Amino acid sequence: MNCIVRKAVPEDAETMAELDRLCFTVPWTRQAFEHELSANEAAFYLVGLIEGEIVGYAGLWQIVDEGHITNIAVHPAYRRKGLGKLLLGELIRLSEARGINKHTLEVRASNEAAIELYRKFGFKIAGIRKGYYPDNFEDALILWRMGEER
Ligand SMILES: CC(C)(COP(=O)(O)OP(=O)(O)OC[C@H]1O[C@@H](n2cnc3c(N)ncnc32)[C@H](O)[C@@H]1OP(=O)(O)O)[C@@H](O)C(=O)NCCC(=O)NCCS
Repeated sequence: MNCIVRKAVPEDAETMAELDRLCFTVPWTRQAFEHELSANEAAFYLVGLIEGEIVGYAGLWQIVDEGHITNIAVHPAYRRKGLGKLLLGELIRLSEARGINKHTLEVRASNEAAIELYRKFGFKIAGIRKGYYPDNFEDALILWRMGEER
């Protein structure tokens, strides 16, 4: 399965919002993605395409030398095929080339798939935000991945 990864552009916002609705209980809107892709200068997003269709995305906000990963999502029909690994790997590789040397994110404590994916990339649990998610008051795990000192 050939997946092409490229930088997301504002025209991708609608498709990314559709994908979000399939992947998250509290999805981002098209407007939120448009803002990310056209107005937020700290934002950096990648999309993964199979046969020209967007089937996944991953993104972060750059805050000095830190990459705050906002989200990663893969279409349910394309999971467990390595796309999450591909997207996260490229996000980390390309953001390191932009001067980011540590990455962080929050993940729902019950999200075993995502936690396992992050663990494979060297992320470690650094803390817990109790009741962080307003929809079900689930805890968030705070993960960090420290890169090489430069
Ligand atoms: C998390 C997510 C992006 C993973 O995408 P994916 O393309 O299925 O991931 P991959 O196929 O690259 O899997 C990479 C590794 O993650 C782990 N993993 C993925 N899905 C898993 C699952 N359901 N259960 C346990 N581990 C899982 C495995 O370690 C896997 O490696 P392996 O296949 O060699 O065992 C996908 O499940 C998703 O979109 N979930 C909904 C959105 C979400 O929760 N995003 C994270 C927000 S913080």
